[in-house]
Amino acid sequence: MKTRKVGVIGLGHVGAHVAYSLAVQGIADELVLVDQKAQKVESERQDLADSVAYLPHRVKISVGDFADLADCDVVVNSVGKIELLETHDRLSEMDFTIAAVRSYAEKIKASGFNGILINITNPCDIVTRELALMLGLPKGHVFGTGTGLDTSRLLSALNRQTGVDHKSITAYMMGEHGALQFAPWSCVSFRGMPLDEWAKTDEKFRFDRDALQKESIGGGWVTYTGKQCTEYGIATTAARMVHIVLHDEKVIMPASMELCGEYGESGLFAGVPCLIGKDGVEKVIELPLTAEERQKFHDCCEGIRKNMEHLKDI
Ligand code: LAC
Repeated sequence: MKTRKVGVIGLGHVGAHVAYSLAVQGIADELVLVDQKAQKVESERQDLADSVAYLPHRVKISVGDFADLADCDVVVNSVGKIELLETHDRLSEMDFTIAAVRSYAEKIKASGFNGILINITNPCDIVTRELALMLGLPKGHVFGTGTGLDTSRLLSALNRQTGVDHKSITAYMMGEHGALQFAPWSCVSFRGMPLDEWAKTDEKFRFDRDALQKESIGGGWVTYTGKQCTEYGIATTAARMVHIVLHDEKVIMPASMELCGEYGESGLFAGVPCLIGKDGVEKVIELPLTAEERQKFHDCCEGIRKNMEHLKDI
């Protein structure tokens, strides 16, 4: 019987909720928690262990170092300094987070880890690329939660607006996991019924699209403002991605992934629809964007490239 072993690096609000989400959903049989704050990570281990007796699934929880990630099937990277987000700009963490991943990526590589790494750490698209370059794993084995989380916010807004259940809506946020992301409305459908078609006959489907897009982009800041972090949305997004990988589900889901010519873009990671399975992102899905949407995506990629220029200063 294969043991499903998942490592979590960074046991702050996000990492701790990722670990709990994996435990409570029975997605992992074994969790390895890695954080330089010894007392914090021990507290998270203890707290998680205290829940196991009443969980429907048994999960073994341990504190480890990077060397203990060697035989993990999946590693979730969630290092961050949440107080830096007070500016409501995920780029404000970049100096801290890039320096952090640069300080330990080689340790992950040296462990012999050859599984799938899912990055949460912000700025997600840029940090995911940094980890992919440093780990040297096969293409697709390192990807980010990116617009996967933003899309859940768009799906909730569309559910509230139209009444259709989230799981019957095909919609994406694309581009940067940040202010530059956008919703390609031409690709929104309800189990094959295009938004534009339904809008012809039902006023619920005729709404201020810019307002819904803005609501999706701003959702994270609504959460942050009242509790100075986000937890449940990101943890559930990451846990969903871990499950897809561990069960080789071949699910199409938005994620931060390397572009090698798709959508006419290369040399960066950005939020795009991805076919995800046991080998991580196995294919980038190229939606039939309108010319205007394609231009928006290009502008978004140019913004990410501009932010990448700061890497040389760190
Ligand atoms: C958010 C963080 C994870 O959008 O960037 O909630």
